[in-house]
Amino acid sequence: MFSIDETARTFEAVAEELHDELRGTVMTDRQAVYTHGHQESVLRSHRSRTAANSAAYLLAELRPGQALLDVGCGPGTITADLAELVGPAGRVVAVDTSAQVLAQAAEYVAGRGLSNVVFEIADVHQLQYRDGEFDVVHAHQVLQHVADPVAALREMRRVAVPGGVVAARDADFAAMTWYPQLPELSDWMALCQRVSRANGGEPDAGRRLLSWARAAGFTEIESSSATWTYATPGQREWWGGLWADRVVGSDLADSAIAKGYATPADLERIADGWRRWAADPDGWFAVLHGEVLARA
Ligand SMILES: C[S@@+](CC[C@H](N)C(=O)[O-])C[C@H]1O[C@@H](n2cnc3c(N)ncnc32)[C@H](O)[C@@H]1O
Repeated sequence: MFSIDETARTFEAVAEELHDELRGTVMTDRQAVYTHGHQESVLRSHRSRTAANSAAYLLAELRPGQALLDVGCGPGTITADLAELVGPAGRVVAVDTSAQVLAQAAEYVAGRGLSNVVFEIADVHQLQYRDGEFDVVHAHQVLQHVADPVAALREMRRVAVPGGVVAARDADFAAMTWYPQLPELSDWMALCQRVSRANGGEPDAGRRLLSWARAAGFTEIESSSATWTYATPGQREWWGGLWADRVVGSDLADSAIAKGYATPADLERIADGWRRWAADPDGWFAVLHGEVLARA
């Protein structure tokens, strides 16, 4: 376990060791590769996330003193908000498969002055925690990327206390909608879907969360949806700009080229489309998410 005031260097060394231990012990036959990577253009998007804009469906369940597990915490901005809500007596364990992003999350959380968060390498398919260790187990935009989302939800349930909460929220790529309907954005969508599926994920996860939770054995499930909208000049510049950068400079871009799904010129054309969309005063984009709050 790492405390947030350990240096990122120490953190990464220990994390690599743990990662080696975990390798080969994941209890699923299928494997998945995280599609987007942790480049600046990707983290620019993830770092905009807060408990308010990404976990509103969970907030009424949170109380000071709870133990909370944040699975696939990424750069930790939602994690920090959740830690404030269960703190100061409550504790948060934040896990991810990437040592690199965990180090950045630890730095961010320390910068917020929080001392009730620890960071560990873990794969959601096989968590290194005892049964019933957490009051709340949360995963935001993670299940769309994993090899076996039903097994992942079973594992999240195992580590939740009986009667505790398992909360998951995922975008649904096919349900994203936008205007104007530029051909480059349609090509972007087709590419995201193709790469994500080839990597073992399910990009249209939002609509499936309820079915996955039922298949994992949950019987008490609240299911909801929520959206992000990008329509003002500032929102369009941010969203269009980060996708223009991501589509040419992220793991998504590398995979698309390596798998022969796109050439660098194709990706540049899609990036230009994103910039045109961002500059259009009529530009509008909505991201639909599915959400489940399931009782363990
Ligand atoms: C889209 S990011 C979401 C990060 C954060 N939850 C947020 O919403 O800002 C997905 C994160 O899940 C992590 N991840 C992918 N597969 C995982 C797995 N099997 N177990 C745990 N984390 C995983 C990735 O490394 C990545 O940081």
